[in-house]
Amino acid sequence: MGTDADRRARVAVVGSYNAGYVAEVPHFPVAGETVTAGGYEEVVGGKGSNQAVAAARLGADVSFVGRVGEDRHAETAFDLWNREGVDATAVSRCEEPTGVGIVLVDETGENEIVVVPGANHELGREGVERAADAIGACEVLLVQLEIDDEAVAAAVEVGADRGLDVVLDPAPARELPPEILERVDYLTPNETEARLLAGHPPDSDVDDTTVSERLRSLGVGTVVLTLGADGALVDDGGERTRVPAPDVDPVDTTGAGDAFNGAFAVALAAGETPVAAARFGCGAGAASVTGFDVVPSLPSRATVESLLEDG
Ligand code: RIB
Repeated sequence: MGTDADRRARVAVVGSYNAGYVAEVPHFPVAGETVTAGGYEEVVGGKGSNQAVAAARLGADVSFVGRVGEDRHAETAFDLWNREGVDATAVSRCEEPTGVGIVLVDETGENEIVVVPGANHELGREGVERAADAIGACEVLLVQLEIDDEAVAAAVEVGADRGLDVVLDPAPARELPPEILERVDYLTPNETEARLLAGHPPDSDVDDTTVSERLRSLGVGTVVLTLGADGALVDDGGERTRVPAPDVDPVDTTGAGDAFNGAFAVALAAGETPVAAARFGCGAGAASVTGFDVVPSLPSRATVESLLEDG
């Protein structure tokens, strides 16, 4: 029989799958402008699925809860989860088409994304509650906002009721009711998402500390503000800790947040402190931006550990 030390961290992810259409552009088009892409690819994506794959690559047992259509994109998704060892038995299907993400990546590696939610917005309370036992078997629940509000609310309820650490990546940002925020143990916004949730314009120059204090006052336990190349700020109300990120040359920043969140959840599920988990997350985020596209550049544990040792 296995001991606790043998047991792998268990992470449940409730979220989206999107088929991805990615174009490499010299610059982002302004209104009315047509830009000619230098390259184009059809890829797998969606913040939920990306985070599930990120966690599985880092050695966790992962259950993914989501909804896809009855189309070819859904078959590609099941192949992905099968290949990556993500348990997708709690993924349901519906008549709406599988979600789609249209991604532009410019020459500096920055991205712009348009999401067409499709089946992701059909997950609903029922799609989550039928997976309650699969979620309850995990230590950490990871949720994002590419699914409908009912599904997000049901996920954090199940997670909190079953005693999991609930991590919410509020991406893409939208206003959230207190019933959701009060059940969140760790909120992991990036800088623009944090400002929007705190009631400021996304490009406001209000400082990070004020933003994280405001977010904590809305009821979340710990705010883990992700700062890209500048690492992360962990604010648990008692202490605020800045966590540096390893220095890398970015090629494509799409999915850096997914790599961060997947890694953060795995480290928490393994019993690490939030600050250590954020450090692991920063290592995974940095590794992920060194390659083009999201899933192909989600790192292994060995890659993250060596980057953190060197950086
Ligand atoms: O975080 C990156 C992801 O956001 C992409 O895979 C795209 O599908 C969108 O969901």
